[in-house]
Amino acid sequence: MSRATPEKIRLAVIAKKKDADAALKMVVSLGVFDKSRKVIKRQSHVEIPVIRSVSGCELILQEDPLFYKKKLDLFHALQGKIPEECIHLIPRGWFLLGEVIVVKIHPDLTAYEHHIGQALLDFYPRCCTVLADEGIFGPFREPVRRVIVGNKTQTVHKENKVIFNLDASLVMFSPGNLMERIRMSRFGKGEYVVDMFAGIGYFTIPMAVHSRPRKIVAIELNPNAYHYLCQNIRQNHVEEIVEPVLGDCAKVTPEGVADRVVMGMVQVTDQYLQKGISALRPGGILHYHQTIAASKYPAAAIRDVTEAAAALGRRAEILNYVLVKKFSPGVVHAVIDARIDRDF
Ligand SMILES: C[S@@+](CC[C@H](N)C(=O)[O-])C[C@H]1O[C@@H](n2cnc3c(N)ncnc32)[C@H](O)[C@@H]1O
Repeated sequence: MSRATPEKIRLAVIAKKKDADAALKMVVSLGVFDKSRKVIKRQSHVEIPVIRSVSGCELILQEDPLFYKKKLDLFHALQGKIPEECIHLIPRGWFLLGEVIVVKIHPDLTAYEHHIGQALLDFYPRCCTVLADEGIFGPFREPVRRVIVGNKTQTVHKENKVIFNLDASLVMFSPGNLMERIRMSRFGKGEYVVDMFAGIGYFTIPMAVHSRPRKIVAIELNPNAYHYLCQNIRQNHVEEIVEPVLGDCAKVTPEGVADRVVMGMVQVTDQYLQKGISALRPGGILHYHQTIAASKYPAAAIRDVTEAAAALGRRAEILNYVLVKKFSPGVVHAVIDARIDRDF
């Protein structure tokens, strides 16, 4: 008698062949890749096995999943090391930044976090440190993370032919934004770009490496992130394109010169919208990131842009909107692309 495979071990993300590498990287970096199953290449698409659904991705239940013989399973690895009654709290996801593994640990498992860290290191022999993640906070969007195994938090994360130097305990790096970093890398050829919330160069560096704008002014207020931004500019050899600026974009954003403005901040981005719009020459393009209620996607973010443009006597033509990721329960991270036209 044949038995149906449970749904949770048949779930897969579907990607077009040309996007399969990027989708696989995203799934791995989000910590949802199911390592017990093989990636299946079909004639029209690729199936990437996942342990749970990924917002913004097309999903299927596989008819005929292919399993690896040996299962990479934290539950098995921790058997006997964690009390039975806590087994259901074992983390199901984590992500890698270079040689550092970042994982959320349930408070009831704090006493056993060393075992969890060690088991994760056993899965990834090239990694050397495991950080417990407590969230991202404050105006600088800084992570609160503590070392549970290892001691090296400075690392080099590579994706899409870009090198990011960072300290995973000091600066944020969102694995869920990978597709958006790839999307941004395709814009800006020959343009004057302003990145108002540059961080360590999340969007600036991929754009500079792949599209070679004429100039990118990359503004960052947090000295820690600015330090890595400068290092990443050097390591990716884009010194002639990127001008890093340590400062508050509310004060130092240039006016009326940009072909393209990237506003890669969330939660408070609307407070800077008029600054971003004013930086654009007529016909320039804005990428406005914001966190909004899922039920109001994309209308609430579109309204922010059109109202801010109108307040400046300008018109916003909405070109595109993108759902980057689920941000928190009921809240999504969205990006609005808009052409900002001449004054009325
Ligand atoms: C959320 S991070 C960018 C992350 C990127 N969008 C991603 O998700 O990968 C935003 C960056 O903007 C910086 N920032 C916040 N307020 C700023 C301001 N007023 N001027 C310039 N940079 C600012 C923060 O320090 C942080 O490095």
